[in-house]
Amino acid sequence: MEKEFLRWQEDYSVGVREIDEQHKRLVALINKFYNAFYDHKHKEVIDEILSELTDYTRYHFSTEEKYFRQFNYSDTLIHIKEHKDFIEKIKTFIAEKEISASTTTFKLMAFLQNWLINHIKSIRNVLLNMDLNKSVRL
Ligand SMILES: [Fe+2]
Repeated sequence: MEKEFLRWQEDYSVGVREIDEQHKRLVALINKFYNAFYDHKHKEVIDEILSELTDYTRYHFSTEEKYFRQFNYSDTLIHIKEHKDFIEKIKTFIAEKEISASTTTFKLMAFLQNWLINHIKSIRNVLLNMDLNKSVRL
């Protein structure tokens, strides 16, 4: 049975369906990684998961940045910087995994859990306070 390392909660909702769906997909990706770790398969799947994570977060960040621009969010650059920092951090994990896939997996799981929860909270604060038009709200 699939185990949940992270569980989606209603208070994770940022009020915008498109972004919520993408955050749910990120939760699912983290859980997929956790299950591989639990089944001792992380060495086989670490490359695939890291590249999926890189591709999907790039796509997800571009969605969020689209909303920031569309609604003239004043701190857009700060958030774009946070997105870039995340991509850079993942690159360091990609480099480190050559030394020890197990240590990297362990550190990566902790990083992703903290990062996603903080990311959702921060984006949630932005979007809930933004004057979004009704068409994008849930
Ligand atoms: Fe996000």
